[in-house]
Amino acid sequence: MYQSKIIGLGKYVPDNIVTNDDLSKLMDTSNEWIQERTGIQERRHIKKGDGNSTAIMGLKAAKQAIDRAEINKDEIDLIVFATLSPDYYFPGCGVQIQEKLGIKTCPALDVRNQCSGFVYGISVADQFIKTGMYKNVLVIGSENHSGGLDMTNRSRHVSVIFGDGAGAAVLTRSDDESGILSTHLHSQGEYIDELSLRGPSTEKWVPEIIAENPQEDIPYYPKMNGQLVFKNAVVRFSEVINEGLDFNGLKKENIDMFIPHQANLRISQFIQKKLGLEDTQVHNNIQKYGNTTAASIPIALTEAWEKGKIKKGDLVVLAAFGSGFTWGSVIIRW
Ligand code: UT7
Repeated sequence: MYQSKIIGLGKYVPDNIVTNDDLSKLMDTSNEWIQERTGIQERRHIKKGDGNSTAIMGLKAAKQAIDRAEINKDEIDLIVFATLSPDYYFPGCGVQIQEKLGIKTCPALDVRNQCSGFVYGISVADQFIKTGMYKNVLVIGSENHSGGLDMTNRSRHVSVIFGDGAGAAVLTRSDDESGILSTHLHSQGEYIDELSLRGPSTEKWVPEIIAENPQEDIPYYPKMNGQLVFKNAVVRFSEVINEGLDFNGLKKENIDMFIPHQANLRISQFIQKKLGLEDTQVHNNIQKYGNTTAASIPIALTEAWEKGKIKKGDLVVLAAFGSGFTWGSVIIRW
């Protein structure tokens, strides 16, 4: 068995900054409420005409990751693209990136695991590299939330938290002790309805939605039972981090850097406290970018790495929880 490691990281966020005060002009909310409940100060939204989309933002992050990995795009053996907001219903963003990068026929796979999408994507990449089937895998997380949010009071607890952006990582076969030690994935479909966007879909096509003209339970906007998601998140984050540490015979004291999915600053702070980590051992950036779902971990990981917060030999832990419910962790020796 081989071991995989991350050799290149990249990120991209649109220029357009949307502050909490901007949102309070659209719905009945306030900077105080948003900051107190979520820690978010601002987020980025694609602006009409700025040329961005989920695939394009993913492409920008991917190009940076490939440059930093110092490999040629043609050496990529597999593309894994995680998103809940693809440009098209089909085909997925994976093949769009492949075309835009100009890579001829490597396999391209889309992962639909929402906030846990990047962790799932890293796990997929790791398995293919471990078995020796592929050597270099590009994993991308990208989201265009802003185009599909309900900016009215009806969804204010959902729409204030999400932002747009993308992050990417290039993984390759490791030639030393460093790399991904293990990945741990879970899901629990009984909670499908607690955080979902159900239409348009094969269950409900557009004409049907228009005919029904719903006012309350609008299927084409995300809906979320925020408190239930919050309660499950804090439990599952802790469980799956401990699962990863136990698997490797490690303890929470061994963690050098923790990169949580940026769901809510209060969730990250709760987990930080449970793990007994200092502020310098956790990287949060939800204050600037909001919750970017599958993009949040690669954006935060890239930013932490750019700031020099991750050094060779460090034990880095990634963990995510989100819609599905799905959750997972990645334990890395950098
Ligand atoms: O990444 C995917 C996973 N997602 C998450 O992890 C999200 C987890 N959940 C959360 O982060 C929190 O539940 C939210 C931030 C989404 C909501 O915070 P909350 O403390 O659970 O608020 P709530 O929905 O229980 O609402 C509390 C009050 C309500 O008013 P009343 O009934 O007490 O009068 C809401 O109507 O706050 C009101 N409210 C708002 N007020 C101002 C809800 N949203 C807003 C808002 N601005 N945006």
